[in-house]
Amino acid sequence: MNRAAPEPKDNMGQPIPRVDGRLKVTGEARFGSDFAVRNPAFAYLVTSSIAKGSIKNMNLAEAKAVKGVLEIFTHENTGDLKQLKYGANGGGASTSIQDFGPKIQHDGQIVAMVVADTFEAAREASYKVKIDYDKEVPSHGFGAAGATEAIVKKPMPKAGDAEKAFNDAAVKLVADYSTPPQHHNPMELFATTAVWDNDELTLYEGSQFMHGLKNAAANKLGISPDKVRTISPFIGGAFGSKGQMSPRTGLVALAAKRLNRPVKLVATRDQAFTTATYRAETKQKIHMGASKDGKIVSFQHEGWEVTSRPDSYSVAGVEDSARLYGYGAVKTSVTNVHADRNTPGFMRSPPVVPYIYALESAMDEMAEKLGMDPVEFRRVNDSMKDATGKEWSSRSLMTCYDEAAKAFGWSKRSAKPGSMRDGDWLIGYGCASAVYPTHIGAAAARVRLTSDGQARVQIAAHEIGTGTYTILAQMAAERLGIDVANVKVEMGDSNLPPAPVAGGSNQTATCTSTVMKACDAVMDRLNGQAGKTETVGAGAAGSLAEKFNRLGVSTIEEYAEFVPPDAKPNVVTELFTDPIKKLYAGTPTLVGGSHSEKLLYATGAEFVEVRINALTREIRVPRIVGAFAAGRIMNTRTARSQYMGAMIWGISSALHEATEIDPRNARYTNDNLADYMIPVNADIQQLEVIMIPERDNNVNAPGVKGIGELGNVGTAAAVANAVYHATGIRVRELPIRLEKLLNV
Ligand code: MOS
Repeated sequence: MNRAAPEPKDNMGQPIPRVDGRLKVTGEARFGSDFAVRNPAFAYLVTSSIAKGSIKNMNLAEAKAVKGVLEIFTHENTGDLKQLKYGANGGGASTSIQDFGPKIQHDGQIVAMVVADTFEAAREASYKVKIDYDKEVPSHGFGAAGATEAIVKKPMPKAGDAEKAFNDAAVKLVADYSTPPQHHNPMELFATTAVWDNDELTLYEGSQFMHGLKNAAANKLGISPDKVRTISPFIGGAFGSKGQMSPRTGLVALAAKRLNRPVKLVATRDQAFTTATYRAETKQKIHMGASKDGKIVSFQHEGWEVTSRPDSYSVAGVEDSARLYGYGAVKTSVTNVHADRNTPGFMRSPPVVPYIYALESAMDEMAEKLGMDPVEFRRVNDSMKDATGKEWSSRSLMTCYDEAAKAFGWSKRSAKPGSMRDGDWLIGYGCASAVYPTHIGAAAARVRLTSDGQARVQIAAHEIGTGTYTILAQMAAERLGIDVANVKVEMGDSNLPPAPVAGGSNQTATCTSTVMKACDAVMDRLNGQAGKTETVGAGAAGSLAEKFNRLGVSTIEEYAEFVPPDAKPNVVTELFTDPIKKLYAGTPTLVGGSHSEKLLYATGAEFVEVRINALTREIRVPRIVGAFAAGRIMNTRTARSQYMGAMIWGISSALHEATEIDPRNARYTNDNLADYMIPVNADIQQLEVIMIPERDNNVNAPGVKGIGELGNVGTAAAVANAVYHATGIRVRELPIRLEKLLNV
């Protein structure tokens, strides 16, 4: 055991190294564009240089004259692609802006795709595509002329008379916060390779949702899903951006069909900014009222989120901010602001990252108004019930605070802002809560055990860097009573039994539950218990080989379909009806969070030290400590890695990241990894992850809450709160860059 492989505590699995680690470090792991196909043609996208208007004329003559060009696909010859239903809940299309013209609805919309014998020829020809536009003045986002508002019509949390309670409150806070647009920028670019074998299509594409992509592609092409296979054994980062099908996929598939030849597309980094999804900017207003002794009596949270013209995508994190503490009364609302932008979409912890940033900043502001320690203020409002009376299934928030505070040395904090200093460096301590809903969905798995003690697990789950191959091998080994080295896990192929989108941090809970069920069915047969309802404990006596001999077989294989207990008709909403049908149709089936009988959430607490140079205002984060409780932890090594990456991203969202927009053209200007600010090694110094033991078998059979998205929630607020503590300057607009700390 070492720092990278923490000693497992209660309800935590062994930190075995990633089973796919060697493949990855040796380059043997195949990503979307790595698959060798016979005689591929290469595609290059052409994207619009205006944000609003229409294509008046396209001149392709010069482009077509480039040697090696095979065809140029535009709106004029792609009419047989179907308009795919846009699914804001995952699955389906990432946007309803799927036409390649003549109407232009955002900057960087795909308007053509050149296919040539070589990548270079396709790229050269793409530069020679001449387009005349009828240009209109676009609305870039908040505050732009022509942007339109629409109230988001989901049910939003509400309890009591929040306005009256606020008016009557002894201590009041009203504060506005804002978060910028951000782009995921996974290392693996957005790539698609399409190969037809007669009427059967194989798509190699990095995807968080094998069966979603399969069904969406089939619908886009107007063919049967049986004719489509999607393959993605590894994904080079996704963070939500590869959960839904982008408009490029249908185009590449169509091109391959027309040319009767495999077509390979790798969209460039700048094209990724506009052809995939992103986290849209938000504005938020919080009204918080408290009694003198620190009880919150009223919490009102309003949000505004930018989206595209046609799509009402919203993350609406008030759903979660409204549950985190025992407020007396709650009122929430979210408004979409439609602008001439590409449709946003899931980006790690989509609802909670912006909305908990605002809440946890407000908590710090209110604690100060009350003259309370920020941790104690949260303790006073810690509650197993939300304002609507719904109960938490389990909640370890204050244990996380206490453990993280101890490790961090919070007791050394002097409360007064600006009172801690080391030479030219102002020191600030800040903290904030992390919270993430526990999701689970329907899935299927096939497990085979042979008499030599080898097992194979098949499930169309996803390796987005999280360690899924590893933890499913661990679960199967545990249930089958064999060594983890003897388990082979196959994922990332739609020919395998379906799993839901690897989103909403559900994958571990869903897939371990499903693999458990399949393994238990195998063991029931092995132990002669098939059809009996009682679970088999240690199993019947005898070695594995003897048991197989007794049955007279050498192989047992079981196919299990798992439906989360909440996913029944008439529990919660229509989203959760008919889960098995939806599973095979690539439609989301996730349940949990605030939509179950109990509130199902994982929690955490993050503590940050910032140092700000008194003269230059340079901001540093020398230390961050996070403690997290998320039910059963399958593997402390991969879990730590998840938390670590998330906290680094949290620091990034606090201090570095923003997609800059030229408001005149509604265009992203820093659409590359040189100008889009992210932390480098020197920005991340000491980082400590503490895993708090927690048991909650109400959430699901394995007791897994999911951790993929928990760790970058709250970090931005912890940093902002530390910046305030260091300087006395409250920055309510992310990111916090040094210019915001000048001139005061
Ligand atoms: Mo995650 S943003 O739910 O893929």
